[in-house]
Amino acid sequence: MSKLFTPYTLKGATFRNRIAASPMCQYSAVDGFTNDWHRVHYPALARGGSGLVVVEATAVSPEGRITPACLGLWNDAQADALAPVISAIKSAGAVPGIQIGHAGRKASANVPWEGDDHIPAGDPRGWQPIAPSAVPFGANLPRVPREMTKEDIHRVRNDFVSAAKRARDIGIEFLLLHFAHGYLAQSFLSAWSNQRQDEYGGSAANRARFLVETFEAVRAVWPEKLPLGARVGMLEFDGKDEATLAESIELAKKLKQLGLDFLDVSIGFSTPSAKIPWGPAFLAPIAARVLKETGLAGSTTWNVGTPQLAENMVSSGTVDMVMIGRPLLANPHWPYAAARKLGVEKPSWVLPAPYAHWLQRYAGA
Ligand SMILES: Cc1cc2nc3c(=O)[nH]c(=O)nc-3n(C[C@H](O)[C@H](O)[C@H](O)COP(=O)(O)O)c2cc1C
Repeated sequence: MSKLFTPYTLKGATFRNRIAASPMCQYSAVDGFTNDWHRVHYPALARGGSGLVVVEATAVSPEGRITPACLGLWNDAQADALAPVISAIKSAGAVPGIQIGHAGRKASANVPWEGDDHIPAGDPRGWQPIAPSAVPFGANLPRVPREMTKEDIHRVRNDFVSAAKRARDIGIEFLLLHFAHGYLAQSFLSAWSNQRQDEYGGSAANRARFLVETFEAVRAVWPEKLPLGARVGMLEFDGKDEATLAESIELAKKLKQLGLDFLDVSIGFSTPSAKIPWGPAFLAPIAARVLKETGLAGSTTWNVGTPQLAENMVSSGTVDMVMIGRPLLANPHWPYAAARKLGVEKPSWVLPAPYAHWLQRYAGA
């Protein structure tokens, strides 16, 4: 009996299985708008059988885009353009989700296949990144960000709220806050990037303040009956991980008190000097610890996309869902393939009827 293919209910959302299509930037938008590419890509992920499809990191403000080709949700016209994608995901049987975020000092970059580096200052395609402190990431992202004023901080928090309302109003049922990967929220949290002297810097509680305030403000507008999640970089692999984990577990507990429903355990990516021990499911022990200590429902990601591994992680209680990325680019029907591999009695449960019926009838599926 596969647990991976057991439905899962979190508040008012029921997922047909424990497989989530992890948010993946498509770098294919113009001015933050959804287009034909997104209209093909996202429903295909839903059609392929994932229980949850999380639309890519979507910027809450123009300067919060990673690249000029990132999606945005800072105006109503962008929400209107995204709405048909959301309803298509839902009609293909998946819970429609979205990740909203702000890229902070990593903003204003070229798309990965055109360099993945900062657009040079003065180039009209780019803009001035903002961050907690005027400290660049380094490596391929050398541009020095402007230190945010308190007005900037409040404005960006309000931008998260406006984007969350737009997501709510177009039928999105799972909201994931991007508090990871060295983007703005993570860069408040990490002492690698936050050197502020005011109440948003210094102690762990101060560095967490932007995340906590943003979370609270979003929770106030996100429907109580729908799950609200966050992807947090819980550690950096920078040699200070026990201390960082202790701080981030405290943060997760605080967010839980404030109404966090789901935590995706990821990496900080706050410094290019991190030594990340890439390998199959290398975050699983950390996720197990974090979710146990916090009592939160959650998931993890990075190299968990082989069927047996994903099954083991869910059936052992390590995580409630797995966030799968690249394997779904290789094959959006990965969930169906995984069900067959795991000997799930009726893999056709995974696919919508117009596909499942024929596979069952003629392929013995
Ligand atoms: C093309 C691509 C785009 C990504 N974009 C995002 C993103 O928008 N937000 C995010 O939190 N992670 C992003 N990630 C990370 C994925 O969500 C996922 O966590 C990661 O790829 C690890 O899963 P995998 O080993 O199954 O690929 C991206 C990864 C890829 C490959």
